[in-house]
Amino acid sequence: MAERDPAWKVLEKPSHPHDSAHMHVTGEARYTDDVSEPLGMLHLAFGQSSEARARIVSMDLSEVKAAEGVVAVFTAADIPGANDVSPVAHDDRLLATGDVICHGQPVFLVAATSQRAARKAARLGRVEYEPLPALLSMEQARAADSLIETTQHMVRGDAAKAMESCPRRLSGRFEMGGQDHFYLEGQVAVATPGEDGQVHILSSTQHPSEIQHLVADMLGLSSADVTVEVRRMGGAFGGKETQAALFAAAAALVAHKTGRPAKFRCDRDDDMVMTGKRHPFEVSYDVGYDDEGRLLALSLRLASDCGATEDLSPAINDRAMFHADNCYYLADVEIVSERLKTNTVSATAFRGFGGPQGMLAIERIIDHIAARLGKDPLEVRLANLYGPGRDVTQYGMTVADNIAPQMIARLRETARYDERAVEVEAFNAVNPVIKKGIALTPVKFGISFTTTHLNQAGALVHVYADGSIQVNHGGTEMGQGVYVKVAQVVADVFGVPFSQVRITATRTDKVPNTSATAASSGADLNGMAAYKAAMTIRQRLTAFLARTHGCGEAEVCFTADGIRVGSETVPFRLAARKAHIGRISLSSTGYYATPDIAYDRAAHRGRPFYYFAYGAAVSEVAIDTLTGEHKVLAVDILHDVGRSLNPVIDVGQIEGGFIQGQGWLTTEELVWDDKGRLLTHSPATYKIPTASDRAKHFTVTLWDGENVEPTINRSKAVGEPPFMLAISVFSALNRAIAATAPAKEDLPQLDAPATPERILKAIAGHRTS
Ligand code: MTE
Ligand code: MOS
Repeated sequence: MAERDPAWKVLEKPSHPHDSAHMHVTGEARYTDDVSEPLGMLHLAFGQSSEARARIVSMDLSEVKAAEGVVAVFTAADIPGANDVSPVAHDDRLLATGDVICHGQPVFLVAATSQRAARKAARLGRVEYEPLPALLSMEQARAADSLIETTQHMVRGDAAKAMESCPRRLSGRFEMGGQDHFYLEGQVAVATPGEDGQVHILSSTQHPSEIQHLVADMLGLSSADVTVEVRRMGGAFGGKETQAALFAAAAALVAHKTGRPAKFRCDRDDDMVMTGKRHPFEVSYDVGYDDEGRLLALSLRLASDCGATEDLSPAINDRAMFHADNCYYLADVEIVSERLKTNTVSATAFRGFGGPQGMLAIERIIDHIAARLGKDPLEVRLANLYGPGRDVTQYGMTVADNIAPQMIARLRETARYDERAVEVEAFNAVNPVIKKGIALTPVKFGISFTTTHLNQAGALVHVYADGSIQVNHGGTEMGQGVYVKVAQVVADVFGVPFSQVRITATRTDKVPNTSATAASSGADLNGMAAYKAAMTIRQRLTAFLARTHGCGEAEVCFTADGIRVGSETVPFRLAARKAHIGRISLSSTGYYATPDIAYDRAAHRGRPFYYFAYGAAVSEVAIDTLTGEHKVLAVDILHDVGRSLNPVIDVGQIEGGFIQGQGWLTTEELVWDDKGRLLTHSPATYKIPTASDRAKHFTVTLWDGENVEPTINRSKAVGEPPFMLAISVFSALNRAIAATAPAKEDLPQLDAPATPERILKAIAGHRTS
């Protein structure tokens, strides 16, 4: 893009609100389940496995078929093509064959005249299983050598050797739990049979193209016969990157087999049982450091529970390794990443995509060092930051725009970190029951899909003869505001008001071969593709107007008041009309591929990321040492979005991301029983943060920088990075717990999430050990 395109000046105006905000609040925004149902619509439910691991001996579905309202029942044998809903490894079945590999796995599919009838009938299946030994913990999987891929190593220097000469050493171990996405709108898809074997699918998915390709393979069709459409999702958070395919494929199978439209709207409890979640991790470490707390040698082991299939686990665990440095230079380091395969539902993408797990590991290590040295953890953080001469990551990428030191310094000052740390200490000295803690933690998050070829996007822009504009691109809207951002880019290229641009639903027949809207790169990739499409049309208009007005192209300028052509000003609407009559094409595609990235996965070396997004947060918490309950009292965030495409949307992402991270680390606990059944499968047993969990004092400030790379408007991605700012809450909780035995120079043994039980246990352990 042009270095400083005049069109960008338009962007200096205030943010446009989310394009659907008025419809979100009035209930007019149409989600998949709101689209009116045609006559004859069938509703679906799965018969689910009652075992974590077993061989299917026999299946008697006669009662299911005979149940009221049931129109058809399908098993794997009814699938004409590939029985596969997996993103990469072809190991996720739509319907089980032979063995079941986790509790809740779909075994058969019921189509009935109502959702209730389908769900009731699905319980009537008589499936006989021969139970097989199930792996239900990381420990069991390790003992059985059960992995989704070989253990990966990311190494620089010789950590073991460097460790020998370190003045100080420590080691530790802790665990962090997974997380359910808890999108407000559950998994849902509607498939409508078209003529000549075609099928149209409305799906709540982050990845329409993947569903298109999977459904085509499943039904023995070509991609050209399958159209997938998504106007918006009611939240996704990574949980609809691969997991939406199961429901879309089931609906497509029924539509194909029966010739009737079919809807799968998954019940909340079934959704929580059947769909993947964030990976739980076990972390262990040996660290060598000096008296300043500087890390000299690190041997870090990251083990994750990937569940029953591969899904996106290789890339997610890679991202954990990439973020095990966070903002810190790791001199001699070995990261060992163990990807365990168990018989629980396959873990999947969730905001941060492994980054939070890697980052929590290193932040806890820093806290541990600080506790041993009796220093403020912020001092140890500062001592370890990337800087001149120590600016290359453990995977060989240079940190070109290291703004973490300045951001931390700024936030330390504006949030009055030092004064408040003293106040917290004074409070703790006189309060035996309530203890407070405060922490400042930074974030550096790599932006790009680490699978390099995914970093591409397409867009389609139409200018109609009346001057109105339609924009379409491969990005999907899940509430994050990618539509409003991209539409604003297009409006600004033409110098027209935002209201002149109509945003249309994402469809595989408009823009093909798209990547998932994920890795926070939706606006980066699609914004640039739409920019290019719009610029092509603008260039055609420029040439046309110059020719018809007899002036040079340099004299044509798109402004907010119209197009200046020489000394005249032509309203955009009039220019569009004239160009149409002058037989100028007013429609264009645009395509963008992120430049300059390359990664050698075998060696774990290269530049996987185009750039880094940064942030820092100060959190202050209080714990009740008698009940283990806690409260987040105050949060101050300084976050880097480059030159924002839309500050209001970005602030919303930062607030939401932080709170979701807070939930992961404090209240959201997943519990399975000894048969591999998820016990926490409803809001009654699984606690996401509520409005009252948000700190009373909560400030968000945007860093006033711009991207060093020529991204769209020099903005930066914002979707995932703020999630990890919530590590400050966990860190502050540790300090509050440590204050229960202030003389002790050690870190309390606290696992995440920091539920009341865990906090009480950590206090007891800290006081006595
Ligand atoms: N914000 C809302 N409101 N809803 C969501 O589902 N998903 C997050 C983030 N912010 C999400 C969200 C995740 S996991 C990602 S990867 C990004 O949005 C995806 O959108 P983007 O690439 O356009 O930022
Ligand atoms: Mo986000 S986890 O990359 O969908």
